[in-house]
Amino acid sequence: MKQKTQYSCQNCGHFSPKWLGRCPSCEAWNSFVEEKPSASEGTLAAVREEFSGISAVGASSWTELDQPDPSARHLRRLDTGMGELNRVLGGGLVPDSFTLLGGDPGIGKSTLLLQVARGIRLTHPELKILYVSGEESVDQIRSRAIRLGVQGQGKIFLAAETELERVFSTVKEIQPNILVMDSLQTFASSHLQSAPGSVTQVREVATRLMALAKSAGIAVWLVGHVTKEGSIAGPKVVEHMVDTVLYFEGDSGMSYRLLRAVKNRFGSSRELGVFEMDGEGLKEVSNPSSLFLTERAEPVVGTSVGTTLEGSRTILVELQALVAPSPLSLPRRTAVGLDSNRLALLGAILERHMRVRLAEQDLFFNVAGGLRLSEPACDLAAAAAIWSSCEEKAFPQDWVWLGELGLTGEVRRVSQIEVRVEEAKKLGFKTAVIPQGSLDRLKKLKGIRLIPISKVREIVELI
Ligand code: TYD
Ligand code: MG
Repeated sequence: MKQKTQYSCQNCGHFSPKWLGRCPSCEAWNSFVEEKPSASEGTLAAVREEFSGISAVGASSWTELDQPDPSARHLRRLDTGMGELNRVLGGGLVPDSFTLLGGDPGIGKSTLLLQVARGIRLTHPELKILYVSGEESVDQIRSRAIRLGVQGQGKIFLAAETELERVFSTVKEIQPNILVMDSLQTFASSHLQSAPGSVTQVREVATRLMALAKSAGIAVWLVGHVTKEGSIAGPKVVEHMVDTVLYFEGDSGMSYRLLRAVKNRFGSSRELGVFEMDGEGLKEVSNPSSLFLTERAEPVVGTSVGTTLEGSRTILVELQALVAPSPLSLPRRTAVGLDSNRLALLGAILERHMRVRLAEQDLFFNVAGGLRLSEPACDLAAAAAIWSSCEEKAFPQDWVWLGELGLTGEVRRVSQIEVRVEEAKKLGFKTAVIPQGSLDRLKKLKGIRLIPISKVREIVELI
């Protein structure tokens, strides 16, 4: 076969037959690098052939819809020993799944996966786990594993390896049920000339690991460092290939970590897992509101509490606004944790319908604890915080605000309001300001005072 040269963007993976100065797909400059085409096609069949012997999956590539395979692996889930992770995965780890765990370097990906090994050892003592690192020596992984309290008992195997072919022969030898590959950018196939981390290698590694997962029935975890655009291909290039994409995030200055599913073939992609990193590794945080709310004895100007739904869970969040006279001709509008367009829109609604003057004022907005709001249910809470800062009047600290704002200043209903108010009540909130339209649904709720409002300007009358 004639090997035709091609060029690929190292930023997004776009292929082109000729060199381009600027990528037509992601618009990065000077990102094209010459690469030999992938050898996947020949090797994929080889992977299947090689591992079909140890596979429990039938050889047939088709099945009848109404004749479900009783051994269907995706119906079985493995308990990882961590409730937060199980929930994000959609109820546990699927035995032949391919999962990508992305995140900044140092965020705790390797730590999380060593703890998965520890958890699986306890919940499924019969399963074998192989942890392959292309970054650390076996001694380094071992000493960290010991520090995290991982006990192998003959079922956990470590390897320091970067060549894909050698990883595969180790897999054949050990026949693990779970394979951890840490990390994507360090592995390379010796069949290809490109450097580890190049788009071609990253694709090759992912394609062959996918074939391995499916043909040998191994749950494969692939770690991918998120890299700044540029020289090394990041997890984005392989996101479409894998079953599940999880991202591990967190503020470097803070101890907690958020685990998000951004794609999940086996469950909801909106679940959020919360962990805290301390000297003994990652601890699960089953009541995340406690992280995002500040305990206060006194009401504070410019703050309010709203609710956000993260998958199946309600989290209460503290919102903070600071409005101050601006020295600039174009006052600042800075939002952390909220889309800046949404903040601009809320500012305009407040100016028009509550007669607050924001024109010569800087407006800073922050969601405490580093959470990002992805739904408009906190609009009313945000408006209350901004108004409170403008007027220098504080609302009682045991109030919670629920409602989306429309451009006409009306307070609109939010989804699953019962669940949200119930959660607030559980956390000790005494009053909920709610959309008028939701009052009927909440009437039966006892133990929390409800203040229904239909227009945002009614906030003014509440103090
Ligand atoms: P690591 O899992 O190596 O991150 P990644 O694999 O995503 O690059 O985590 C590294 C950081 O976590 C490091 O800065 C030290 C910290 N850490 C703790 O605070 N406590 C612990 O018990 C462990 C194992 C790590
Ligand atoms: Mg690591």
